[in-house]
Amino acid sequence: MKTVITYGTYDLFHVGHLNMLKRAKELGDYLIVAVSSDRFNKEEKDKTCYVKDVDRAAIVEAIKYVDKVIFEDSWDQKVEDVQKYNADVFVIGDDWKGEFDFLEEYCEVVYLPRTEGVSTTQIKAELKNQGE
Ligand code: CTP
Repeated sequence: MKTVITYGTYDLFHVGHLNMLKRAKELGDYLIVAVSSDRFNKEEKDKTCYVKDVDRAAIVEAIKYVDKVIFEDSWDQKVEDVQKYNADVFVIGDDWKGEFDFLEEYCEVVYLPRTEGVSTTQIKAELKNQGE
């Protein structure tokens, strides 16, 4: 069995997220998604989410391509996660290209092209413009 692991915030879940999870699953048989915790976002990424972490995790867990959800609570946990879950492939969008090459010591590292024209940042900006 080939295990794939990916990381993200998945706030205001959109079709770019869905496409990424579908293509991530196609790289193997079992997909683990690490959803960033509210603490990690707030304290280490200076990012505030519309949707709280337990709800973002529940939404991601309901996607048919996803087999398991864990939380990401630190920048450093990736090596530990890859080893703990015997991940064969680490995959993430190419907005992170090169950033996680250090994981090649432990598994295959794949950067997939992002879906164009959609992002949480863009949705947030649109909501703000609409005064919501
Ligand atoms: N992703 C993607 N295509 C998009 C948006 C996101 O493939 N249009 C991928 C990212 O590359 C990442 C995963 O989905 O692998 C989770 O991305 P996340 O950062 O949660 O979503 P973004 O929409 O990029 O959020 P933000 O705008 O806050 O960076």
